Amino acid sequence: MIKKAVLPVAGFGTRFLPASKSIPKEMLPIIDKPLVQYAVEEAINIGVDEIIFIISPEKYSIRKHFEKNEIFESRLKNSDKTEMISKLNPEIFSEIKFHYIDQEEQNGLGHAILQAEKVIGDNSFAVLLPDDLFFSEESCLDQLLNSYKKTNSSVIAVNKVNKEDIHKYGVIKPGDIKNNLIQIEDIVEKPSYENAPSDIAVCGRYIFKPSIFKFLHLTNFDNSGEIQLTDAIKVLLKEEKVHARIYEGEKYDCGSKKGFVHATIALALRDESISKDIKEIIKEII
Ligand code: G1P
Repeated sequence: MIKKAVLPVAGFGTRFLPASKSIPKEMLPIIDKPLVQYAVEEAINIGVDEIIFIISPEKYSIRKHFEKNEIFESRLKNSDKTEMISKLNPEIFSEIKFHYIDQEEQNGLGHAILQAEKVIGDNSFAVLLPDDLFFSEESCLDQLLNSYKKTNSSVIAVNKVNKEDIHKYGVIKPGDIKNNLIQIEDIVEKPSYENAPSDIAVCGRYIFKPSIFKFLHLTNFDNSGEIQLTDAIKVLLKEEKVHARIYEGEKYDCGSKKGFVHATIALALRDESISKDIKEIIKEII
């Protein structure tokens, strides 16, 4: 039912300099897989078959990563490492249409999503911010999809955060709450501790009805010169119901060094081929 997903990946990634000087931060690996691939797989697993990257030209390695690498594949075929072919050129990617749209200027998340308007057309679609990495039996996007089917409204993934961290996120003012589904009354981008309407923050997964584009067009630049997605949702709320789904599972903010390392450790401890050794190493260090 949701066939298209937008992944904004044009940001500079200054927090990861110098690594992000020539390697897009989305290509930094958590163990052996680039961050962006986790988000792409999450989208494909709910039935998405068109991935729309909002990208900048210097991040061509992302494009290369999702293209089939025939040369490397034939090398693997001639060696005794044929089992690695499925890692190199995963079968699931061959069915997917990847679009790459250059975001000429860095004008914020809302502006990035606007670039996908033509490709999305009159369809509901998902947005995944690859910096946010989720681990749960039912993926974050799957949880959103279920809520989307129930409500037939745009839905946003949220989770509770420490009030000290609230200034880093979009924050909702909750209305009616039924189980894990909240009707959103209002939403603010990165409020101060004092002004935050709750401790319920937006995490990086959304499902939108195409009506969001109308409101993105109406949204002005904020004080920092960006078009905020949150500001468009704020106005959308005046015309349509929008729901928040409380995400159940683990979440890592891999846009920060702390979250990136945390995710790396959490994944290493899950990886059967290294988990025992890693546990020992951690014990030794502590
Ligand atoms: C963006 C959104 C914010 C959201 C966050 C989730 O902020 O603008 O509303 O809470 O992603 O990761 P950014 O992290 O890009 O500053």
